[in-house]
Amino acid sequence: MNWKIKAIALTSALMIAAPAAYGDTAATYDSKCASCHGKDGKGKKAMKTLDYTTAEGQKWSDADGVKAILEGKEKMKGYKEKGIDEAAAKELVAYIRKFKK
Ligand code: HEC
Repeated sequence: MNWKIKAIALTSALMIAAPAAYGDTAATYDSKCASCHGKDGKGKKAMKTLDYTTAEGQKWSDADGVKAILEGKEKMKGYKEKGIDEAAAKELVAYIRKFKK
């Protein structure tokens, strides 16, 4: 491998590694949240969760979202005691916002 190819390989490796925190957020969402909100954020009828892919489903504020994650809302229990802090809750809200394209 010449140095140019090595440099390109290294740069792409770094670019993949950079959003590691985001990968954790996605993993948290998939394991803890997707059962009620859906892996694609569309929600589950049985849970009466909102469809996060629509503008209608995103009509809550970031602060409401963080509060719901930490303290719970309706059938959802708060995650504060389960190791999700405010910073993690904010990242989850940002992750949920991305369901709406
Ligand atoms: C037991 C099912 C359940 C689980 C698990 C769950 N939620 Fe919820 N969640 C709900 C319900 C029900 C509501 C209230 C209805 C609604 O508004 O969608 C809600 C509301 C919310 C809200 C407030 C915005 C809104 O839709 O009103 C956010 C943000 C949210 N959940 C994120 C999460 C995240 C992040 C996780 C994982 C850490 C999670 N939820 C896990 C059921 C659940």
